[in-house]
Amino acid sequence: MAQLSLHKLSKNYDDNTPAVRGIDLDIADKEFVVLVGPSGCGKSTTLRMIAGLEEITDGDIRIGGEVVNDVPPKDRDIAMVFQNYALYPHMTVYENMSFGLRLKKVPKTEIAQRVENAAQILDITELLQRKPKQLSGGQRQRVAMGRAIVRDPKVFLFDEPLSNLDAKLRVQMRTEIKKVHQKVRTTTVYVTHDQIEAMTLADRVVVMNGGLIEQVGTPNELYHFPATKFVAGFIGSPAMNFVPCAIEETAGALRVRLGNDIVFPVPQDRTARYRAHIGKARLLFGLRPEHIVEQRQHMEPNQHAFEVELEVTEPMGMETMVFFLLQGTELCGRVNPNAGAQSGRRMKLVADLGNMHLIDDASGRVL
Ligand SMILES: Nc1ncnc2c1ncn2[C@@H]1O[C@H](COP(=O)(O)OP(=O)(O)OP(=O)(O)O)[C@@H](O)[C@H]1O
Ligand SMILES: [Mg+2]
Repeated sequence: MAQLSLHKLSKNYDDNTPAVRGIDLDIADKEFVVLVGPSGCGKSTTLRMIAGLEEITDGDIRIGGEVVNDVPPKDRDIAMVFQNYALYPHMTVYENMSFGLRLKKVPKTEIAQRVENAAQILDITELLQRKPKQLSGGQRQRVAMGRAIVRDPKVFLFDEPLSNLDAKLRVQMRTEIKKVHQKVRTTTVYVTHDQIEAMTLADRVVVMNGGLIEQVGTPNELYHFPATKFVAGFIGSPAMNFVPCAIEETAGALRVRLGNDIVFPVPQDRTARYRAHIGKARLLFGLRPEHIVEQRQHMEPNQHAFEVELEVTEPMGMETMVFFLLQGTELCGRVNPNAGAQSGRRMKLVADLGNMHLIDDASGRVL
């Protein structure tokens, strides 16, 4: 068990294309941290540098307080699980799981104990004598995790370990990985491009973009208090709506204008913060689909009605997604399936301004 810290960590594969641009990150002992971001943002590179599989261009990596920049991978006491889990086909599950320990000349009785313990945690005890080809994808993934667990490393690194599995199994294994971490509590860095996987697994999520860290926070912090437009748009599905807006002041009260027809009062607790942006250009109004719902009998103080023509409706069972145009921008709301939403019809919706975000589109910062 150990803390892990990255200080000004950089990687340039060649002169022009920095893959990781000086990132700082402190991961606590026992913490489960997920690196998430679009393809090519530097997640795997970061993980491989931590593992020692990729040379670092600049900066420091510390494991348990010690700089490991020049420590070879096998001496870093790290176990890595990849997307392609590469079990030895001719070995049984038991042999696959114990292989690393046998190489290290760990006594036989201890190996048996560790393998049995890991098998119990992963619920694969009855599979120990099978060969990989006799296992399902999810079971193979478990064996790959078992191989990592038996080593009892300081840090687990996972690089998209579930992306070879079908959607249903991925969701199941996600829960399994979470359960395993609750039992084993090894410091973990997990890479995925799937924001839902990131949210569901992580103690803290690190959102990366273009080799930089955009924001670090708990899943709820990132969801409710995104620091940038990128994070606001990346976390959450369907994604947050963004519409060009202006902040106005009328008789001392602030209002947010979305085009000619729609003007909402700014919630009291935002007026001090938004006052500096009155009349500024290039502002965006951000609101998540679940904060645009059908008009109901009872309205909360920050809820305000507006009427639109629905372009498309998508029944999801539990709710219906409604899509409409505002200022030429397509927006999405989530309404009750019994609210009578129909494509081509007008509908009264309410926006919950208490959950609005104001974004400076020039800098990408949430204001
Ligand atoms: N061996 C390499 N040589 C040169 N460039 C590389 C190499 N490996 C990665 N890169 C580049 O570095 C950048 C970051 O790659 P990386 O593999 O870390 O991305 P990622 O976030 O893991 O993406 P994905 O979600 O697609 O796996 C990309 O622009 C990639 O093209
Ligand atoms: Mg990758």
